[in-house]
Amino acid sequence: MPNDKPQSPDELLQQEFNRWAAQGEGPKMENHHLDITEKTLRRMDLRAGERVLDLGCGSGWAPRLLARLVGEGPHGFGQVVGLDISDEMVRHARAASRDFENVMFVQGSAAHIPWEENFFDKVLSVESFYYYPDQDRALAELFRVMAPHGRLFILINLYKDNPYSLQWVPKLKVPVHVRSAEEYVELLKKHAFQNVESAQIPDDTPTPENYQTTSFHSLDDLKAFKRVGALLLMASKPDVRNAAPAYTIY
Ligand SMILES: C[S@@+](CC[C@H](N)C(=O)[O-])C[C@H]1O[C@@H](n2cnc3c(N)ncnc32)[C@H](O)[C@@H]1O
Repeated sequence: MPNDKPQSPDELLQQEFNRWAAQGEGPKMENHHLDITEKTLRRMDLRAGERVLDLGCGSGWAPRLLARLVGEGPHGFGQVVGLDISDEMVRHARAASRDFENVMFVQGSAAHIPWEENFFDKVLSVESFYYYPDQDRALAELFRVMAPHGRLFILINLYKDNPYSLQWVPKLKVPVHVRSAEEYVELLKKHAFQNVESAQIPDDTPTPENYQTTSFHSLDDLKAFKRVGALLLMASKPDVRNAAPAYTIY
């Protein structure tokens, strides 16, 4: 008998990104996202010994870059966790990361991050956040698992201020959020993040003249999309630990 139970939004995402993984899309995304990610890594000021989460890590290329940057140093041995809703992406990520001692991959949803609170010094999320059905819930979870003074870096290629990116929306098989930089900044502030900032990060990789694009109407639109660039959201978690009482208890 066919199983006609309706899928939850997370089950739909898992199924869709398992399909991407089966088509070999995981490692290919490194080519598309490396330039904007490297520019973001420079802003993250990563140090040996830090604990970093990559939310929506796909095939794990970014966690491996992060693992090298926070590995052994005078301040200890850094640790990177890659979390993804697609078990197939996680399987590929684990297989490609066997040589790394300080990176691990976990299957799970941004809506229920399977980790303890106040843990991560830095969080990166590359081209994943606009898929989350409940972005408020994801931000509440990020706030919970981030350490006091932890820093959040979210890269988003699909957003209102890059009109060329809107060409993808009808081609996607799952619902997405389309917000502006200003709307995202307000959302982060609503969740009590501090030092909320946004920046546009152009993709400076050359586009070969014979490049075949299925995502854009034309090569000129692809070039214009790269020139406008991705939206980078940056924020800090305040120190929400209770201050010591200003009086002595006998
Ligand atoms: C466009 S891919 C980007 C992957 C990777 N960050 C990269 O740049 O190669 C989006 C990723 O987000 C993951 N994802 C989507 N929704 C998610 C959710 N609700 N929770 C966790 N991961 C999710 C997908 O499974 C997919 O691997």
